[in-house]
Amino acid sequence: MDVASLAEGLQALPLSTLLAAATAVVLLAAVVMRVLSNNFPGKAPPVEEGIPFIGGLIKFSNGPLPLMCEMYKKHGEVFTIPLLHKRMTFLVGPHVSPHFFNATDDKMSQTEVYNFNVPTFGRGVVYDVDQRVRSEQFRFVADALRTTKLRTYVPAFKQEAEAYFSKWGDEGVVDLMQAFSDLIILTASRTLLGREIRETMFKEVADLYHDLDDGMRPISVIFPYLPTEFHRRRDAAREALRAIFQKVIKGRRESGVKEDDMLQVLIDSRYRNVYGGRATNDSEIAGLLTAILFAGQHTSSVTSSWTGYRMLSNRKWFEAAQEEQRRVMRQHGDTLDMDVLNSMDVLHRNIQEALRMEPPLVMLMRYSKEPFSVTTSEGKTYVVPKNHIVACSPTFSHRLPHVFKEPEQYQPDRFAPPREEDKPIPFSYLGFGGGRHGCMGQNFAYLQIKTIWSVLLRNFDFEMLDPVPEADYTSMVIMPKPCRVRYIRKKLAA
Ligand code: HEM
Ligand SMILES: *[C@@H]1O[C@H](CO)[C@@H](O)[C@H](O)[C@H]1NC(C)=O
Ligand SMILES: *[C@@H]1O[C@H](CO)[C@@H](O)[C@H](O)[C@H]1NC(C)=O
Repeated sequence: MDVASLAEGLQALPLSTLLAAATAVVLLAAVVMRVLSNNFPGKAPPVEEGIPFIGGLIKFSNGPLPLMCEMYKKHGEVFTIPLLHKRMTFLVGPHVSPHFFNATDDKMSQTEVYNFNVPTFGRGVVYDVDQRVRSEQFRFVADALRTTKLRTYVPAFKQEAEAYFSKWGDEGVVDLMQAFSDLIILTASRTLLGREIRETMFKEVADLYHDLDDGMRPISVIFPYLPTEFHRRRDAAREALRAIFQKVIKGRRESGVKEDDMLQVLIDSRYRNVYGGRATNDSEIAGLLTAILFAGQHTSSVTSSWTGYRMLSNRKWFEAAQEEQRRVMRQHGDTLDMDVLNSMDVLHRNIQEALRMEPPLVMLMRYSKEPFSVTTSEGKTYVVPKNHIVACSPTFSHRLPHVFKEPEQYQPDRFAPPREEDKPIPFSYLGFGGGRHGCMGQNFAYLQIKTIWSVLLRNFDFEMLDPVPEADYTSMVIMPKPCRVRYIRKKLAA
């Protein structure tokens, strides 16, 4: 219909109808405008205008916690902070978090906020590929972390831990964080990267991993390609690692020998709905292994360390864990397999509580592709606009007294019946994130940390020489500052 015939048609209508139609058009336009300007009906979260750009950054550089604390006191569970040219909306606590964790990637995206990892993991994997490819790549990883596979990794955890601690003397002083970092890269090499790397290329790979790790600093989140020396070394290390993985993969393909490790699962994986169903290629396998090393290395060694520091400075929990080991040894002797580890509830809750108090990932992020509404515990509803960086903080959420009683206290039994404080509201406990992108390595991590502490509890007693260390919030993965612990070799009698 052209404009002339439209005008002719309108002239034929009575005035009242015309007025009603005009009103409808105006109302509709208003709605469309609101949607387009992406404020669908609802109130946007309070914006903290008090902090200028630079001020926001400076406050941030002391770690995000003091800032979050101040804003939470002032605004409550939802607030927005301008950060450079972006807006960042914080969701504090389980009442406002479900959408963050449960929404699909087309609504709450990871690519925009996590793609600073691309120069570390390499091209063609994880945050460098679109969501359909990424979900298939994560399926390969999930296959390598299935229960049946985890069962085969436990003997390697045990063997590596026993060998490592057998080198300690009868008595000495150690920094647990240092020791666990060294041990966990050994077990990760054996179970994830494979026997070849563990047995013949370990030192080389550990050094390259160190350079790669050192190339990811807080500044790299904003400027991942800044031409600095540490970024140059990162890029060189990534390529050198890739070459090593490529050599190992070639060797396996040629020999036809299959191993029980993640490398093997990745070699044998095929895409289903993308790339014409082809198998993974060498650079993808290298990239995924690197990403997994990053996901699991510091997180696990940090959590093992806090578990030790907290148990030792709350001695009754250390003794409860010893008592549990005695019971397990009476039942199963020296056997330390997956079922035995799964029966260690006391140790499990010590790890869980240490992780509640000091989660290594202080902030999880998404990018809103659509507006969404949240309702606070007090019943206030806000609409978070699209194109915001949205953040949830495990560290901060874990210290909310309306979720965890006496949150500053170390109380592993808060997770046991009858308390079970993590249970009533979903997404209360965020040590491993949750929902659609919850940690895939959670069971792997528990089994590994429990193996390490079982071996330690059965063979040593400990004494803290320093108070529980503070957390260092300036690193990418939050870790304990140095702390000395004395060990005394002493067999635990069943
Ligand atoms: C105590 C040790 C660990 C902690 C505290 C931890 C914590 C987390 C958290 C909080 C997330 C969610 C991130 C987000 O929502 O943005 C996550 C995701 C993930 N973790 Fe872990 N993790 C640990 C160990 C591991 C290990 C050992 C592996 C692999 C062997 C692993 C593999 C992954 C993967 C692949 C994801 C991404 C899942 C997805 O995006 O769908 N993690 N982890
Ligand atoms: C999250 O999504 C899952 C699967 O769609 C659903 O079963 C669960 O109830 C959701 N949880 C919340 C708190 O919305
Ligand atoms: C692997 O596949 C990706 C994505 O198609 C491609 O960009 C890359 O060059 C391939 N690498 C190798 C070594 O074939």
